[in-house]
Amino acid sequence: MKGPKRILLILGAFSAVIVILSRCMTAADKLPDDIRGEAYAGAASCKTCHQSLSADYAHSPHGLTSQKVNDSDLTGVFPPDSNSFSLNANEKVVVEKRKGGFYQVAYKDGVAVRAERFDMQFGSGEKAYTYAYWRGKKLYELPLSYFAAINNWAISPGFPAHMFYYDRGITSRCLECHGSFVEKELKHESTFSMNEEMKQGSIIYGIDCERCHGPAKQHVVFHTENPEEKTAKYITIFKTLSRKQKMDACGVCHSGNTLMAQKSVFEFKPGDDIDKYYVQDFVGFGGGKPDVHGNQTTMLTGSNCYIKSNNMTCQSCHNTHENIKGNLAIYSQRCINCHKTTNHSEETLSRGVLAANCIDCHMPKESSKLISFKQATKNEASAYLLRSHHIGIYPAERK
Ligand code: HEC
Ligand code: HEC
Ligand code: HEC
Ligand code: HEC
Ligand code: HEC
Ligand code: HEC
Ligand code: HEC
Repeated sequence: MKGPKRILLILGAFSAVIVILSRCMTAADKLPDDIRGEAYAGAASCKTCHQSLSADYAHSPHGLTSQKVNDSDLTGVFPPDSNSFSLNANEKVVVEKRKGGFYQVAYKDGVAVRAERFDMQFGSGEKAYTYAYWRGKKLYELPLSYFAAINNWAISPGFPAHMFYYDRGITSRCLECHGSFVEKELKHESTFSMNEEMKQGSIIYGIDCERCHGPAKQHVVFHTENPEEKTAKYITIFKTLSRKQKMDACGVCHSGNTLMAQKSVFEFKPGDDIDKYYVQDFVGFGGGKPDVHGNQTTMLTGSNCYIKSNNMTCQSCHNTHENIKGNLAIYSQRCINCHKTTNHSEETLSRGVLAANCIDCHMPKESSKLISFKQATKNEASAYLLRSHHIGIYPAERK
């Protein structure tokens, strides 16, 4: 046999082997490995059957809530002519493009004294982006965050207002609410302190399908092998959960920061009991009102709507798979589902068509006590506004 023919023959035999091998592979073998373990399939595998839902999801705040920084996206975030932030007469932080990416560079008396790169971002940008950089296996928050309300940079929440600071560590706790997984290792430094290291390459960014629906490999394999089956198998059916279980499935990330995780909440699946994951810490215990930031669960469960109805959950108003952000008329319709008639005074009724917007009167925006932001040109901090999930009659509306 001559050269070319022989090559063709070898190639032919080779592809035949591949075809045979792929026939022998089960649906399970074809799925890529997922770092979370055998039971997980990965979000890419959901696309085949849940196409439109997966496409919508790619743009949702949950899906985008943590990401690697992409330099070209970052330039879109930059407010025009504003890449410098003065801390005091001699110190400023400047956002600069340098070799290897964008950096937040600290200047003292005109001399660059520290530069750290934008490596990762937290937040979908709905209200804010906070940025972080890696130093070895540790993540640190950058001094400037972007706030949508002012379309500009401000000092990161909780940072000192008049000096630059680069050493606030970001732990896996942020990722437990803003991501789907990170491999971490705890090292004892001394009797009293633990040192956490995270593996950069192991991060699953964003809140993915299986973070909310639980591990789904068996579901994927079953439906791939049984395409005629139209009823969902091997996946938790949300409708069948109890009220507490439904509240817990959202509450795992929407119950505020005063809870202390007893074990990693990455393992939390719908149907699990939140009390097995969290204990209330001493600060949160009875101390003060819950904050509007990140604590929709406590706010809501204190409302008469929740207490006096026996079926209100987050799903009474939110379907995490639709995007109706800002459409208060649709949200109001969900109030009307329960409140077919209301007893408003003549005076309230005279204030316009109530049905178009129950929200601004009964769930007004309030400023967070935990978060505010400090702009370069202003002395006082600006408010960080969120919807109060304590549904009620607010004094401001009585007049
Ligand atoms: C081979 C097809 C297939 C793949 C791949 C697949 N599913 Fe499904 N899934 C179905 C079918 C069929 C149903 C039932 C019909 C429906 O609700 O769309 C379903 C329903 C569901 C439901 C609804 C459960 C309920 O409450 O009714 C969820 C949640 C779900 N799938 C999650 C996932 C996730 C997460 C992935 C990826 C890890 C995934 N599916 C991949 C076929 C698939
Ligand atoms: C933030 C949590 C969350 C994330 C993330 C999430 N889901 Fe859901 N999903 C839900 C909830 C809650 C329901 C039940 C909605 C209801 O019953 O009102 C649901 C319902 C579904 C359903 C059945 C109803 C429908 O709308 O068709 C499917 C299928 C589904 N999800 C698939 C997915 C897939 C695929 C992904 C990833 C692309 C995903 N989900 C990501 C919370 C989530
Ligand atoms: C793994 C943690 C996690 C879980 C579980 C989770 N959320 Fe969220 N949710 C977040 C984070 C983080 C944000 C902020 C996203 C951003 O960066 O804008 C958010 C944002 C939201 C928003 C505002 C953005 C939007 O989509 O309009 C709503 C509403 C919401 N969540 C409802 C829910 C409901 C309802 C559930 C339960 C079905 C749920 N979430 C489960 C972490 C979570
Ligand atoms: C207990 C869960 C939880 C933890 C822990 C948590 N967050 Fe959040 N975070 C949320 C939720 C929920 C929201 C959105 C709604 C709100 O503010 O109530 C949010 C909002 C944000 C936003 C604004 C997002 C946007 O686009 O509007 C940023 C930025 C953010 N968090 C960063 C962080 C960082 C950095 C950490 C760690 C230092 C952290 N978060 C820890 C739950 C959490
Ligand atoms: C799941 C059903 C349900 C939904 C959805 C619902 N409510 Fe209610 N709400 C109730 C019940 C039940 C009460 C208690 C009525 C009573 O005391 O007779 C109530 C009470 C109230 C009260 C009186 C509060 C007080 O403290 O006395 C207001 C105001 C109210 N709802 C407004 C709203 C608005 C606005 C929405 C939409 C954002 C809404 N509700 C959604 C069931 C619901
Ligand atoms: C009675 C209706 C109702 C219920 C129940 C409800 N929400 Fe909301 N939620 C709203 C409305 C209205 C908004 C404002 C939406 C907008 O501005 O687009 C909102 C906004 C949010 C936001 C965005 C934060 C902000 O202030 O903009 C988050 C996060 C959220 N809800 C989480 C939850 C969670 C978690 C639950 C269950 C514990 C829940 N919600 C229950 C009506 C409700
Ligand atoms: C302009 C502000 C405003 C708007 C808009 C509004 N409310 Fe009210 N609501 C009030 C005030 C104020 C009260 C206290 C009684 C009064 O003075 O009218 C009240 C009382 C209530 C009550 C308790 C009394 C009762 O009827 O049992 C409910 C429930 C309620 N509102 C639901 C709603 C719903 C649902 C919508 C949207 C369809 C809505 N409200 C729109 C201001 C408002």
